[in-house]
Amino acid sequence: MNTLTIDIRKAEAGDAAAIAEVHEAAWLGAYSGIIPHRALTGMVNRRGPDWWAGAIRRAATVLVIEIGGKLAGYATIGRNRARELSQQGEIYELYLRPEYQGIGLGRRLFAAAREKLSGSGLKGLVVWALEENRGALAFYEGAGGRDIAEGVEVFDHKALRKIAFIWD
Ligand SMILES: CC(C)(COP(=O)(O)OP(=O)(O)OC[C@H]1O[C@@H](n2cnc3c(N)ncnc32)[C@H](O)[C@@H]1OP(=O)(O)O)[C@@H](O)C(=O)NCCC(=O)NCCS
Repeated sequence: MNTLTIDIRKAEAGDAAAIAEVHEAAWLGAYSGIIPHRALTGMVNRRGPDWWAGAIRRAATVLVIEIGGKLAGYATIGRNRARELSQQGEIYELYLRPEYQGIGLGRRLFAAAREKLSGSGLKGLVVWALEENRGALAFYEGAGGRDIAEGVEVFDHKALRKIAFIWD
């Protein structure tokens, strides 16, 4: 029997290309048909390996989850950006490759991200998700998040509602 090891760690410079691949597959999978095609491909193309190498080098904290040595997903975390919300931490992004979704890895990566934020002294947590991203809403509700605020994000003239979930 093969044992698959699951590892969650901070991203390193050598992860940039694999994260760019996860980003592309996960974003196209999650947002095709929601975010207009041109805006979506534009966002994906901007975030190639060089962009991710820069993000890893800069202050941004990027976490990765590996299963059996393959990079299955990533999360980016840091200070909450919405002044109107009192929670101090934020998960900016949490994405898994489509073939690794639905087997509990998201739950583990979310828990690790939350722990990392509270470990750096940030109290409380916010995550934003597009309202049409039903899978994400179900995931955050299942993880105990309370939907507290709404906002709007515009992609190529299309306004999409987004929802903030919080944890104290
Ligand atoms: C959302 C995401 C991070 C969840 O991670 P995951 O590994 O697929 O989820 P898990 O297997 O850990 O599931 C945890 C719980 O969430 C629920 N859940 C996860 N995805 C779901 C979906 N698409 N629809 C309904 N429920 C879902 C699971 O049923 C599970 O609940 P249960 O324990 O009661 O069965 C992942 O599916 C993903 O990357 N999706 C595409 C990108 C995305 O939308 N990211 C979030 C952007 S804000």
